[in-house]
Amino acid sequence: MWISAQRPATLKELRESGWRSKTVKEELRDNFVQALQAGEELFPGIIGYDDTVIPEISLAILAGHDMLFLGEKGQAKSRLMRLLARFLDPEIPYVDLPDVPVHEDPYRPITRRAKEFLANTPEDQVPIAWWPREYRYAERLAPGTKFADIIGEIDPAKLARGTSLSAEEALFFGLIPRMHRGIFAVNELPELDELVQVGLFNILEERDVQIRGYPIRFDLDILILFSANPATYNRSGKVIPQLKDRIGSVIHTHYPRDRDVAIQITEQEARIELDGEYPVVVPYFMKEIIEQISVVARRSKYVDQQSGVSARLSIANYRTMVASARRRGIILGERPAVPRITDLGHLSSSSLGKLELDLMAGHQMSEKQVLDAIIAEAIKDV
Ligand SMILES: Nc1ncnc2c1ncn2[C@@H]1O[C@H](COP(=O)(O)OP(=O)(O)OP(=O)(O)O)[C@@H](O)[C@H]1O
Ligand SMILES: [Mg+2]
Repeated sequence: MWISAQRPATLKELRESGWRSKTVKEELRDNFVQALQAGEELFPGIIGYDDTVIPEISLAILAGHDMLFLGEKGQAKSRLMRLLARFLDPEIPYVDLPDVPVHEDPYRPITRRAKEFLANTPEDQVPIAWWPREYRYAERLAPGTKFADIIGEIDPAKLARGTSLSAEEALFFGLIPRMHRGIFAVNELPELDELVQVGLFNILEERDVQIRGYPIRFDLDILILFSANPATYNRSGKVIPQLKDRIGSVIHTHYPRDRDVAIQITEQEARIELDGEYPVVVPYFMKEIIEQISVVARRSKYVDQQSGVSARLSIANYRTMVASARRRGIILGERPAVPRITDLGHLSSSSLGKLELDLMAGHQMSEKQVLDAIIAEAIKDV
């Protein structure tokens, strides 16, 4: 780790400091090995994945794989992907040139501009700046993502004007080239336009890509993460086979295996202040009912099980239940207020929209009717 006052500011100082260049995957692996060895908590805040998901991720990191997080909605896929950034170095050095759109490794530049600069500049005059890890993670939701957004776009007019200009210099860099030496996550991969998938595959595998017919070569160093719902991911024609083939590890996520674990997640994520001027005390069986609503919804034949029932349903319902009790506490002066069955009557505000009905099941029920039936069954179960 580098202390800011002593951080090398030129290439010469960087070499003297003994800094070693690593790929993103090497960096991630080395820091992960250290954390594992020290017995640190690897994914803070993640509950119930110690024996299933976390070992799978550990292997993928050690293997140096790109990863796909496969699971129904609200299973902490995005959260896990974001947490991977904690295994990056606190900061890494790059060549500080204003007209170069990527954070160049001082030892292994990839753009023509940086290569030329490094070849023609004495090392004590090559400025080095430091890139903090918080900025080395970027993500993108697949729907609506265009080729130009994540890969790049060439300005043909620029090319036509400057005879000496290479295609690279007329290029607007998309998010992926700009995340060189970082982590890039694509959410909902199956919704990514096919053309963009092909471009992504080319840039990652062949290291070159054609933009408006101009071939561009990038030696990108990037860890790429994807998330997808299994039902759409496995539907043929949604994700090009070459891209599937390139993903080193598939990490399967799941809903909590038992209700007590689920309650822990909900309490942690709801982040509700139960004390204060109008305190609320929640009996354990009410927490169980909130959780059981999600459990029943996850096996209800009226609910679209391919899409899933997110952990967000329990979280939002829990907040609504506490809010309803608190409201009563404020009006009637109950201290503490205690949630009771009638408070569950307000759950439609937090539940509707989160349950996707199975339209193939051939029933005539409205979402509200389905919800009422689910709540009734959950109360009976508990
Ligand atoms: N095992 C878990 N541990 C801790 N929090 C969890 C767990 N499962 C779900 N959550 C919580 O559920 C919420 C949704 O998580 P997240 O957005 O990461 O899900 P996702 O799988 O990416 O969902 P989507 O498919 O809808 O994008 C977050 O508040 C997250 O912390
Ligand atoms: Mg997500």
